[in-house]
Amino acid sequence: MSQRSVRPRRLRSSPAMRRLVAETRLHPADLVLPMFVREGISEPVEIGSMPGVVHHSLDSLKGAIAAAAEAGIGGVMLFGVPLEKDAIGSGATDPDGILNLATRVAVQEAGGALVVQTDLCLDEFTDHGHCGVLDGAGRVDNDATLERYRDMALVQAQSGSEMLGLSGMMDGQTAVVREALEGAGFVDTAILAYAAKYASAYYGPFREAVNSSLVGDRRAYQMDSANRREGSLEVELDIIEGADVVMVKPAGSYLDVLADVAATSTVPVWAYQVSGEYAMIEAAAANGWIDRDRAIDESVLAIKRAGADVVLTYWALELAERLRRS
Ligand code: PBG
Repeated sequence: MSQRSVRPRRLRSSPAMRRLVAETRLHPADLVLPMFVREGISEPVEIGSMPGVVHHSLDSLKGAIAAAAEAGIGGVMLFGVPLEKDAIGSGATDPDGILNLATRVAVQEAGGALVVQTDLCLDEFTDHGHCGVLDGAGRVDNDATLERYRDMALVQAQSGSEMLGLSGMMDGQTAVVREALEGAGFVDTAILAYAAKYASAYYGPFREAVNSSLVGDRRAYQMDSANRREGSLEVELDIIEGADVVMVKPAGSYLDVLADVAATSTVPVWAYQVSGEYAMIEAAAANGWIDRDRAIDESVLAIKRAGADVVLTYWALELAERLRRS
């Protein structure tokens, strides 16, 4: 065969050919939309650092859930933004706290058309902004935090959450939550373990989104971005402890970790395209420096190509609607 008869360009020659041979595809069902619900507002309020993303009121949440279901997206991940915060994050375990109220509203509105998931972490509810309770020296106390997570899990399951997103990075959190759910008869409540969650600058805009007053950082519990192998360890532990799904987060800067996990995991592997990844593309596009829609497609496709079964992304609704039209 002459060298020139080997022509990879043949399969790139037309849109129909490219579509036919594409190895990776996006589908609305592979997308999960993270949503913020804020206590004490009656109209949606845009989040400054995340143009196009809003704080929902309990009322505006209804229409947004209906739109998400209509677009065919796989699920939503709810975050609560309470009015009052305290040292132990009391609002998280209040059955009438904002996140638990929002869960009941979302479950009812979704009517089974998509999976309602909830963030299970304390940082939205604590006045110090950490993901757990602090000890006398001001450090996050792992085992005292597990007791709070256990109580949160039961209240969230009671509120109807179908999948609990354990995002706090405390050791043993998946085991404690699994045992509590089983003990209380919530045998069908799934656990999404944020197994490999890195301490990341890309969470910046999220801090505004949850009105976080964090002083310091989360490096003593979230993973160090220098470490790849440790991602596989965290995933292995979460699967042993009873995770139904494992997640890598952030996504774009951790595609190597995602590919490792996808190659070995025995449960579904998801990835979270976080607030900073969203904000960067939106900001560049707003300046006319990048083709917004193409950059969005490329960034989400890359996450799927690296091995994610499902992508949590703030563009989920827009992408699903665009996929439906194409
Ligand atoms: C913890 C949590 C965070 C995010 C999701 N869950 C913040 C953090 O760990 O600092 C960040 C998501 C994003 O940046 O989009 N409750």
